[in-house]
Order: sequence, then structure tokens, then C-alpha cells
Amino acid sequence: PLRIAVFASGSGSNFQAIVNAVQEGRLDARIELLVCDRPQAEVVERAQKAGVPAHTFKPKDYASREAYEQEILALLQEKGVELVVLAGYMRIITSVLVDAYWGRMINIHPSLLPSFPGLHAVRQALEHGVKITGVTVHLVDGGLDSGPVLAQRAVNVEPDDTEQSLSEKIHPIEHVLYPQVIQAIAEGAIDLKQAAQPKTKDGMIVQ
Ligand code: GAR
Repeated sequence: PLRIAVFASGSGSNFQAIVNAVQEGRLDARIELLVCDRPQAEVVERAQKAGVPAHTFKPKDYASREAYEQEILALLQEKGVELVVLAGYMRIITSVLVDAYWGRMINIHPSLLPSFPGLHAVRQALEHGVKITGVTVHLVDGGLDSGPVLAQRAVNVEPDDTEQSLSEKIHPIEHVLYPQVIQAIAEGAIDLKQAAQPKTKDGMIVQ
């Protein structure tokens, strides 16, 4: 099985979807670690129930982002983590983790990136009045919800949609898509090395 770590900050419904997929045999992975920057978050209880070790920390206990990331990196290396899965981890990742895991760290975001990165993506899409939004899974680079796209799913926005109703359409799509993408990576059906290559060379698209 592919050794993964999941990073999350909140309710952890995507973490749960990954746990379920592993338990049901749809995902050939082992969740070595949950990393959570909010010790009180619901995702920590989910990890306990699933028997997944959790590393929780409070960012303000550290001098810098780099300091807590060094600690996390040591844990990931100790556990032989091959893929880092960000699932509602609401923090900027610094070069400490990005450089160590470039091409081996993925994120899910509730919009069709590059539209609406950052916080409240669903609200941003509604405020912009788009008719189609969706979900993106991408490789993590140093930016905010940026990096090469691995998979996307579209969701129609209806005129009477609210932030809540649209979120309720997007979440179940995330819960199906994310385990599928991780399984595709585990099988080699998504080639992360290829995805991590620059897409243009001398201004030409590289096929
Ligand atoms: C998910 O919708 C995820 O796409 C989003 O946070 C939510 C976490 O929900 N991530 C981002 O907005 C990243 N910028 P969950 O805790 O229930 O999995």
C-alpha cells in the first residue's frame, strides 16, 4: 500500500472519505499519520476512531512556520510517507515541506482552479455569479491553492443556490474524487513525475 499522511484543520469529512475508501478496499493506501494544526478539531476524533496516529500542534507555540514544518517533516520521513494529502488544511505550506515533497504533495479545493483560490471558494464563486464551479485536485507548489492540476469535476450553479446548498453539492463530489485520485496515483495511472514537469519550454507547450 501507498504510505500517505493526511493534513486537515477542521471537520475532516475528506479525511473520513479516505479512511472509508481504505477500509472498504477501494484505496490501496495506509494512512500513517494525520497532521492537524487545531487540536480541538473534529478530524482528530475521527483519526482516533479510525486508529490513525495524529500529530496535533498549535502554530503559535512555534517561532515560525518553518519551525513546526521541520518537526512535521521529521515525522513524515520517520514513517516513510510517500504522498502528502492536504484535505482542508487551511495553512500556507512553506518551502520546508514543499521542497521535500515537491511532486508528492496534493491538495483538494472546492472550485475550478485557477478560479477562486483561498478561503470561502464556494462563496467567491457565488459572488462572482459563475454558472459552473467544481472541485480541483492539484499538486502543491509554494502558492495559495496553486500548482499543476491533476483532476477536476464540474458542478452546475443554480440560480437559487446558497453557499450552503452549493457546498452540499460539492462535498460529496470531493469525497468520491479524492480517494479515486489517490488510488490512481497508487496504481501509477496518474504519473506525478510527469505532472510535476514544466508545461512549457521556450514558450511552447510540452506534450
Ligand atoms: C473541503 O471542501 C476542501 O476542499 C476545502 O476545505 C474543505 C474541508 O472540509 N479546502 C480548501 O478550501 C483549501 N483551500 P473537510 O474538513 O470536511 O474535509
